Amino acid sequence: MSTKTTPTIGAGHDAAKPSDTSLKGVRAILEQSKNLSLLRLSTAGSVDDGKSTLIGRLLHDSHSIYDDQLESIKGKGQAEETGFDLAYVTDGLRAEREQGITIDVAYRYFSTPRRRFILADTPGHEQYTRNMATGSSTADLTIVLIDARKGVLDQTRRHAFIASLLGVPRLVIAINKMDLVDYSESVFGAIRQEFTSFAKKLDVRHIKFIPVSALKGDNVVTSSERMNWYQGEPLLRYLEEVYVASDQNQVDFRFPVQLVLRPNQNYRGYAGQVRSGAIAAGDEVITLPSMQRSRILSIDHWGIGAKPCSIERASAPMSITLTLDRELDVSRGDMIVRAHNVPKVSNRFDAILVWMSESPLEPSKHYILKQATRETLGLVESIDYKIDVNTLHRSSPTPLALNEIGRIRLVTKQSLFLDPYKLNRGTGSFICIDPTTLLTVAAGVVVEKGDIQSLREKEQPTVGTDLHRESSLLSRADRELRFGHQAKTYWCTGLSGSGKSTIARHLENQLFRDGIPVYCLDGDNIRHGLNQDLGFSPEERVENIRRVAHVAKLFNDAGISVICSLISPYASERAAARKVIGAESFFEIYMSTPLDVCEARDPHGLYKKARSGDIKGFTGISAPYEPPTNPDITLDSSTLSVEECVRQIRELCSRP
Ligand code: ADX
Repeated sequence: MSTKTTPTIGAGHDAAKPSDTSLKGVRAILEQSKNLSLLRLSTAGSVDDGKSTLIGRLLHDSHSIYDDQLESIKGKGQAEETGFDLAYVTDGLRAEREQGITIDVAYRYFSTPRRRFILADTPGHEQYTRNMATGSSTADLTIVLIDARKGVLDQTRRHAFIASLLGVPRLVIAINKMDLVDYSESVFGAIRQEFTSFAKKLDVRHIKFIPVSALKGDNVVTSSERMNWYQGEPLLRYLEEVYVASDQNQVDFRFPVQLVLRPNQNYRGYAGQVRSGAIAAGDEVITLPSMQRSRILSIDHWGIGAKPCSIERASAPMSITLTLDRELDVSRGDMIVRAHNVPKVSNRFDAILVWMSESPLEPSKHYILKQATRETLGLVESIDYKIDVNTLHRSSPTPLALNEIGRIRLVTKQSLFLDPYKLNRGTGSFICIDPTTLLTVAAGVVVEKGDIQSLREKEQPTVGTDLHRESSLLSRADRELRFGHQAKTYWCTGLSGSGKSTIARHLENQLFRDGIPVYCLDGDNIRHGLNQDLGFSPEERVENIRRVAHVAKLFNDAGISVICSLISPYASERAAARKVIGAESFFEIYMSTPLDVCEARDPHGLYKKARSGDIKGFTGISAPYEPPTNPDITLDSSTLSVEECVRQIRELCSRP
């Protein structure tokens, strides 16, 4: 059996003793790692930019290499302190050493005392876009490597674009080979600036830049003394600490049925994996496509190596078996969802397709489409355009060839149950299989009309180039550790009179009593101070939201949670606020109290004035309100008490 040197990084953690290979020691390690959170990451880089060395360095310095692997590579190549070339650690794929390129996706598992990692090592060579796509499709984060001597290349842009297309929420731009540019801050700064201006067109929420030398070990596992100008954390520490739990869609319950279990006359269970959301015994559900209603009778679950047991609640990505309180005709490929939260059921939809086959797309050919657990035949009805991944420009809609990406419209024989990929990676993606060769020829993501625009968003005005950011010696994580609390922003949106301010006030009071540092930013109050120069024109409301979002972000950075209470009538501006604050910290609370109730309440007589024309552009009367399509919570204060609303939000707050 291979023995592994126990990770020892992360001072202050109770790792098992390094040389303890007894059964007890192994158990201790397993027990310890069971409770660690998991980070899925992928890597992308161009040939020769040192990706294999970086991964080798991560694995080696985090003591994640098996002793026998170490034995087998000792003496190969040279490197000063290790005695072998770090790239050999990762090159289980011999072809890379022979041809200078990596030819497949390799998954590597490693852990530190703080976290478990699954790393998809994807190749850099231009021909292998498909592998990059495969590796990134489930990643929480992608590391894009840049050779400090070469700067941002077409490939860098291509990889960043694909990661963004596949909904990877975070990029780490590892600017490597800093040793070959004299650890120069200005080289790092110039690359960062160039990439940042490109990335404005992408849909990536967080970008972290780290200057490293994988070869010499600078800023990979330990901070580099040769780059004192870099105040951030080294790569591994960042990977250990980055908060990803909220990436999972916890709202929309989607359970594609994989298998119908009928072990005896008395049991009919539907087995599968919860792709998103959560469900509890007793909840009302409907099955698609039959649209029949029922309630969850039991949720049966097999723990690791344990006996089956019934549980009260299940959430993504658990594998469970559901039983229903009524006999229904449900089969593999059907989907169980909540009665009031149903995906789009359609046999015609728009998608972005990455073509992965040597033989180009044939427009009149039927391909097998696999989406969730459903399989049907599909035809590309039209190709709207192809995307030049280097420039993000659209090009003519000729049939897609190997590695090309295009926006298409698909029509399928059977209906599919679809969510936009942006909202749900589990039910918004599919693959196409050639029915003759049974090879996977393409992977696609479902988009809504207009989705792709956000990739080509108009550039934001650039900040004066003479401005620089000063970074604090304290990270947000330091502060959160001190306060014992992860700072969040609860964004209450809804009509005037919908109960936002009341709920916000009570929530603030309750959270404070729970020991949470919290502050309420109320639209009316802020308009008396910081935003007293703003009125209610669309432009001024946009500016109102922008400023409040930035203030909330500052509070969160300081470790303090914020409750924002603003009408915030435009979906686009709430999305922008989410981006500023960071999706993992942002919760949208929609006060859905109906207009007639708000108007009847009319706490300040403003509806009356709006009706009589004394106030122009009043939300709900003479100005629009765009309700959220996918809020974290919806509360109607005409049917729920203040206490109940506060209770529901606190439940949301207590989620990890
Ligand atoms: S927002 O639209 O820019 O988000 P905000 O929440 O800050 O609005 O301010 C809304 C408050 O301003 C309302 O609660 C109401 O008291 C007051 N108000 C005054 N004029 C208007 C108007 N034309 N539309 C909406 N609210 C108004």
